[in-house]
This record gives sequence, C-alpha cells and structure tokens, in this order.
Amino acid sequence: TTQRSLVLVKPDGVSRRLTGEILRRIEAKGYRIAALQQRSADDELLAQHYAEHVGKPFYAPLVAFMGSGELVAVIVEGHRVIEGVRALIGSTDPTAAAPGSIRGDLASDTGEKVQRNLVHASDSPESAEREIALWFPTA
Ligand code: CMP
Repeated sequence: TTQRSLVLVKPDGVSRRLTGEILRRIEAKGYRIAALQQRSADDELLAQHYAEHVGKPFYAPLVAFMGSGELVAVIVEGHRVIEGVRALIGSTDPTAAAPGSIRGDLASDTGEKVQRNLVHASDSPESAEREIALWFPTA
C-alpha cells in the first residue's frame, strides 16, 4: 500500500546544510517527495505537532529548539514509507542510532535535554495524516 509520511528536517539539519543530504537518502531509497516547504514554526503549531509530549521534561526545550530557525517540511510518499523512513533515520538517541542511518551517520549527542537529531518522521498512518493536515492544510 502506498502511504504518506510527514518528514521534518529540523532546524539543526537546515543550519548544518544537511537538507540535501537527508532528502537525497530518502529519494535514493525510492520514495517520492510529494510536497516540500521551508518555513518556521510557532509555538501553537508545535504544540499541536507534539501534543503527545506536552508535559514531558524535554517538551519546553524541544519547542524552543524546533522554533529556533527554519525547518523543511516534506510529504514523502511510497510503499510502506512510514516504516521505511523511520528505518533510514535511525533511533532518537544519536549515540545509539545505527551507523548507516541518517542520525547514526550525521547527528551528534549534544548532552542537552533535547535531542537535536536532525529529522522527524511520522510514526504511524494515523500520526502521518494528522501531521500532514497540520503542516500542509491544503494537501
Ligand atoms: P521527534 O521524532 O521529532 O519526536 C519527539 C522529539 O522529542 C524527538 O524527535 C526528539 O527530538 C525529542 N525527544 C524524544 N524523546 C526524548 C528524550 N527522552 N530526551 C530528549 N529528547 C527527546
């Protein structure tokens, strides 16, 4: 089944000039970029995007980080793309992320409260549709 996933190149990825490298890996795997926008995100949008994390110890630093600069929002399409892109990205913790994955190869553990881990991708079909509606209201 063809799925869609919402991918964000986070502000650390954009500022480190890794947008092309990250999207290159996703495209090289065979997924299609269906929509793409470079933009910033305000607290309201981030509160909706990260609704499940409100109240967690890393929530405030997470929102501060995600609002600290432009990010690139992407709709990626393909067969089992949700699972596939998460495998390409690797574990949340940059130290534990497998070499060969985007985070394993390119993200470093900063020792801060929030993981500056370069990229986000939807974790289920339900979150994908919810997140796509937030970031791309007309898609
Ligand atoms: P993301 O896939 O965008 O989803 C939630 C984000 O919160 C995650 O990537 C990390 O940036 C951050 N995050 C999740 N869990 C933790 C944690 N235990 N400690 C610090 N940051 C976290």
